[in-house]
Amino acid sequence: MRLVVARFTHAAALAARTSAASRCGNRELCCLSVAAVRRVWSRSRISWQMRMKNPPGGASWAAFIRANTELLPPPLAPEIRLHLAAESLPIWQKTEDELGEINVPPPYWAFAWAGGQALARYILDTPSLVVGKTVLDLGAGSGLQAIAAVKAGAARVLAADIDQIALVACGLNAAANGTAFEVTAKDLLAGNMADGFDVVLVGDLFYERQLAERVLALVDRAVDAGSDVLIGDPQRNYFPKDRFTEVARYEVPVTRELEDALIKRTAVWRAGRASG
Ligand SMILES: C[S@@+](CC[C@H](N)C(=O)[O-])C[C@H]1O[C@@H](n2cnc3c(N)ncnc32)[C@H](O)[C@@H]1O
Repeated sequence: MRLVVARFTHAAALAARTSAASRCGNRELCCLSVAAVRRVWSRSRISWQMRMKNPPGGASWAAFIRANTELLPPPLAPEIRLHLAAESLPIWQKTEDELGEINVPPPYWAFAWAGGQALARYILDTPSLVVGKTVLDLGAGSGLQAIAAVKAGAARVLAADIDQIALVACGLNAAANGTAFEVTAKDLLAGNMADGFDVVLVGDLFYERQLAERVLALVDRAVDAGSDVLIGDPQRNYFPKDRFTEVARYEVPVTRELEDALIKRTAVWRAGRASG
């Protein structure tokens, strides 16, 4: 397996954010941070190609995650600790020797996104939503919402993310919080496969058009199948606000590097049902 990883610099991130901002009339609603991560990551891919003798297995990635993150509390859910990229630890700037040749998607798992933080806070404060229930955390990233669901008393939690490294991070983060949940790398969106869960959690997934359309199709189907679908989102570019009912609102502390803001107004929404 040959993998390639790219270097992410603050200068490049700023350049990407500026260019995204100029295309987007409304900075407040713009998904600058996520778009910046993805654009910069793919643009600079050539700059950091390395060779790895063996495919990176779970242990390798676990070591990488431990070495390049700090165990930190997401601001809105400080009772949880996650392996997060701290500004003082530029995960993107590792030397070639350390990483080998790897090709990975942007490390969304190294951040607690505003939508996920809001959703986690809402679940922790409203455990009746998940107590004794089966829960799907779609696009789990760090696993923040999955951890919140377990802590709130869910009977079974499945964290789904197509990024295998995110699932390793989920495992480390679950353990760091004395929790456990299942993970899957299956693209549940491909087969619209979210049926059978009492609760479906969607944290910050409306940042790209195609992904948003696929998520929305899954949300509609899950609602039709009787799931309670909760969405945490700061109204990213492709968030279909009129399709959902707001149930809680938060001001989420974020970083300028990632969001070009210090606070992101973020809400939790319910799909397909009246709030309550
Ligand atoms: C912005 S991050 C949000 C992570 C987390 N929910 C949060 O709020 O902190 C988006 C995540 O969705 C994942 N993702 C993208 N497409 C996906 C798909 N088809 N199925 C599952 N996860 C997906 C990415 O790998 C990434 O971890």
